[in-house]
Order: sequence, then structure tokens, then C-alpha cells
Amino acid sequence: MSRRFLVTSALPYSNGRLHVGHVAGAYLPADIFVRYLRSRGDEVRFICGSDDNGVAIEISAQKENTTPAELSARYNRQQAADFEGLGIHFDIYGGTHQPEFTELHNRLSQEFFRTIHDNGHFVKRTTEQLYDVKAGRFLPDRYVTGTCYHKLPDGTPCGHPQALGDQCEHCGNSIDPLKLINPVSIVTNTTPEKRQTTHWFLQLGRFQGVLADWFSLVSLDWRPIVTNFALGSIRQGLPERAMTRDLTWGVPVPLDDPDAKGKVLYVWFDAPIGYVSFTAALCQQLDGDWQRYKDWWQDPDCQIVHFIGEDNIVFHALIWPAMLLGTQFTAKEIDARGSNYTKPKEKGFFQLPSNVVANAFLNIRFPGKEEEKISKSRGTAVWIEDYLKSFDPDPLRYYLTINAPESQRTAWSFDEFVERNNSELIATLGNFVNRWQKIVTDDFGRKVPPFDRAEDLEKQLLAMIDALPQEVADDIEATRYKAALGRIMEAFRECNRYIDTRAPWTSRKTDAGLCAATIHACIQAVRTLGVLLEPFLPFASEKIRQSLGVSGDEWKWPQATKRLAVGHALGPVPEVLFRKLDPKEFTEGPNPS
Ligand code: 2FM
Ligand code: ZN
Repeated sequence: MSRRFLVTSALPYSNGRLHVGHVAGAYLPADIFVRYLRSRGDEVRFICGSDDNGVAIEISAQKENTTPAELSARYNRQQAADFEGLGIHFDIYGGTHQPEFTELHNRLSQEFFRTIHDNGHFVKRTTEQLYDVKAGRFLPDRYVTGTCYHKLPDGTPCGHPQALGDQCEHCGNSIDPLKLINPVSIVTNTTPEKRQTTHWFLQLGRFQGVLADWFSLVSLDWRPIVTNFALGSIRQGLPERAMTRDLTWGVPVPLDDPDAKGKVLYVWFDAPIGYVSFTAALCQQLDGDWQRYKDWWQDPDCQIVHFIGEDNIVFHALIWPAMLLGTQFTAKEIDARGSNYTKPKEKGFFQLPSNVVANAFLNIRFPGKEEEKISKSRGTAVWIEDYLKSFDPDPLRYYLTINAPESQRTAWSFDEFVERNNSELIATLGNFVNRWQKIVTDDFGRKVPPFDRAEDLEKQLLAMIDALPQEVADDIEATRYKAALGRIMEAFRECNRYIDTRAPWTSRKTDAGLCAATIHACIQAVRTLGVLLEPFLPFASEKIRQSLGVSGDEWKWPQATKRLAVGHALGPVPEVLFRKLDPKEFTEGPNPS
């Protein structure tokens, strides 16, 4: 039976290019999942776009001596092209401050804010914030740096001299800018002073009981990296968080209150609403009615799945669900619920996510060097734009999946990338697809030969292959993409062992019947494996499909084990599936940067 899914990938900030760490984290796994769902026949909308508002974009624009609008438009286009080049196809690639999306995005973000406000979930507070006298402005989030005041797990001070106003990248803790030692404004390099300003704080603590209950119901099969973090945060208690900022670049605070003047929504308030506003824009494109976003977001039968990186867990697993609950319930109603969550059964209320799928970060290891963090500022990254100039998308998709940081950090290693391309994609997968091509062309005129002479070995091989779609599906449904691809690769190894045993290059001269059955079995195996590969390696899968002469409609998960009839005409010998790589291509090529 067909199911309905709304799948999102974290909105990348539009202030930089994409690298392999981004792709491994929130985009490739989501694309695999969506391709699988589509192959199964499920109905899916796959949503992404750039995160254009807030401090990070403003600062980058200043550094590049341009405007946030120009900067975010440029990177938005570059990101969209990078994703397309990798075969990551979103149904829409929006942008929270791109001209064609801003109106709907602001409208929905402001509606969210007002509803949550009217439901009594904000407290308006006047507090001290750092203020740059020379620039005449407040310094929210990353506008200020200073020495970190946190302690490391061993009790020694972190003391990182360049901690940012929202987070210390050394110890990973969030930062209260007022506590920074020796704070400095990044605008003028001067020491800021404290001044009073007013903001709206979301009372997250109020949602604690309901969130804990929802979490215990929904997260049983979620990844431990998400549940451990979220449960830990719930146990520690959820502090209130300011959801407005003293900035001009963003969504204006929609309150008729003089204190709201010149302020915008916190970027982490409006960013997840981007998922909703881009869905609305897509509905406008497809159905001529943006309000039909409700068919996806407010329908209990639609499953919402968010794909993110590990640094986004608190926002997607706790704050965003609290915001969604805050649109449905007043503060009093939440208080009355205590620790009791019930999923709305009727339409008309925002649904909470069915799953939040996070990956750990990907590190990088340059030849002859220690593993290190990917860093934009140090340039220690493999940029997608550069990669695509010299290499095909599938090897990258393969390596980032088979080496995915699903439960803990893994590293991109240039040598390993090349080695796995050559020994796994070429010597295992490509080799099996190629080994029998000459025989089926020369001896059988590229038609599926008879299977009458099949023996137990052929039947065992095809029984193993027949079991595979369900096994791989079980892995994918449980977000084990690495295991799913590993299973397919193991089947290719088994196929290679099978053909080694049968050696049709010999039997074609000694036992034509057995040779025919062998080639028949190889064709059926590749027919199934090719379909299962589609979510992972769509480009290779497409070449395999054409070489088998199978139509696109028949190249779907439910047909994966449907045999090609004896006499079925295959297509032409497949183009080369994978190109052999030399490690020098990386050390001497455009990467590392
Ligand atoms: O961490 C980031 O890159 C954020 N721009 C992710 C935002 S995800 C969503 F909420 F929009
Ligand atoms: Zn620190």
C-alpha cells in the first residue's frame, strides 16, 4: 500500500560552498531514502533550500564586501547546482530570503510567531546584551568573540580565545555572550558594553513533560545519536530561548509593539518554517494553491522525516516540536497536559516529526596527515563544485554511504576513496556486470538464454537474490543505509564467486546448456541488483537498466525480482560504469583545496 512522506534535508546556510561533510550528513542519506520510497511507489515530497537569514549571512556578506541578498542568492544557486550534479533531486530548492520565496516564507513565519505568541508561550523580557558603541548596534550571536568560560570534561578551563557569541567551537558548549572573557566586537574590533534590550523568550521548559512523553512514544527506533542527545537535554531541563534578535536581515517581528521595532525573528525560529514555506511554494507550483501544504504538514497519515547533521539535533528533536505544539496548544493547555502527549488524529494540526535522522560529522584525512575536522576557514575540505569538475557523482555517493558517519564520526580519506572505487565499484560491481557481456552477445545474440539446465547452484544464487529486496528495504526503513548498501555489495561478491565457479567462458565450449543457464542467472541477478542500486548509485543503475533493455516503469522495487523472460532482448553492452582512479588525481588535482 502506498504511504505518504514529507522528507526534508537541513537548510544549508547560503554563505559558503558545499563540501563532502554536508553531503554525507543531511543530503545523500535523505536522497537515498526518497529514491527508495519512490521506487516502492510511496508518495513523497522532498524539500530543501537555503537558510538565508540571520547573523552568519550578514557577517559573511560584510567579509565579502557585498550584501546579504547578493551573497545568499549566489550561494543558493551554487548549492542547487552542486546537489543536482550529485543526483540529489529535491522537489523544490527554496531559500528563506530568495525573492521568489520571501513573501510566503515571511507570511508563514510571522503566522507561526503570532500564533505561538497568542497561545502564551513567549515571555517578553528586557535583559542586558553586548552593544558596539562605535558601530551603534547590538551584537547578537556571532557578532562577538571572546575567551571561552566553560570547563572541559577533565575540569580544566576551555579557554578557547576565539569562542563565538553563540557557541565555542573548541568545547562545543553553547555560549552566553555576556559571560565571555574579554569580548570583542567583530564589527569594529572594540570592546562592547552592556546595554538593555527587549526580546521574546520561548518558554521551552513548559513543553518538557509533553516532549518527553512524545519522545518516548515515537523514538524507539530512532538513531541513538539523536535519542541520547535529546533525552539528555530533556533530563537537564530546557532553558527558555530568545526567539528575536536586534538585526535587520531576517523576518520582521510581527507584533504591534514598539519594542518589536527593528527586530527580526531568530534564524533558528524561521529556518525550520522554511520546510513549510517551501512546501507551500511547491504546492503553489504543482496545484496552484499554496495552502495545500496542509495536506502534508497537517495530515496524520503523512510521515514527516527530517535529515540533519549532529549539530542540529536540539533544534529538530526538541525546539521545533515545541514550536509545532505551541501552534496547537495554549500555555494553559500544555500545563494541563502535564506529561501526556497524544497525536492529533484529525487533520488541521501540525504533525510532529516521525523521525529525525542525524549523522555525526565527517572528518578528513589528507595523505600523510592525521585525521582532522573539516574546516571551511582552514580550507580542509573536498568541495563538491571542485569534485564534480573532475569526477563522477556515483563514486562519491558510494564512498559517503559505505563510510557514512551513521553512529559516530568517520573520515574522508583520499586513498580509501580511490581504493574503494577501484576494488569495490570496479573490481566487484562493474566486473560482475561486465564478465558475461561478451558471451551473451556472441553466443546468444543479446537475448536472455534458457534456464532449463539450471542446477542447485543457479537456484541458490537466485534464491539469495530474491530475498534481497526485503532485506535491503528493512535496512533502509530502519535508516541503516550503510548496511543496506553493504548487503548489495555482498551479493555482488557472491555473484562473482558464482560465475568463477561456473566459468561460462569454459562451459560455452563444453556444455552450452549449462552456459546458457549460467548467463540467465547472471542476467536475473543484475536485473534485481540494478533496481536495488538505484537509490544509492542512480547513474550506474540507469546504465544497467538500459543495458538490460528494461523500461523505467519496470525498474522499480516491487518488480525487482520479476524475471526477464527467456528471449527478452537486452539493450546494448553497458557503457563503462566506473572509471579507474589514481590517488595522484587527488593530490595533484583540484582537491585538496
Ligand atoms: O546548521 C545549519 O547549517 C543550519 N542552516 C540548518 C538549518 S536546518 C532547518 F531548520 F532549516
Ligand atoms: Zn570552549
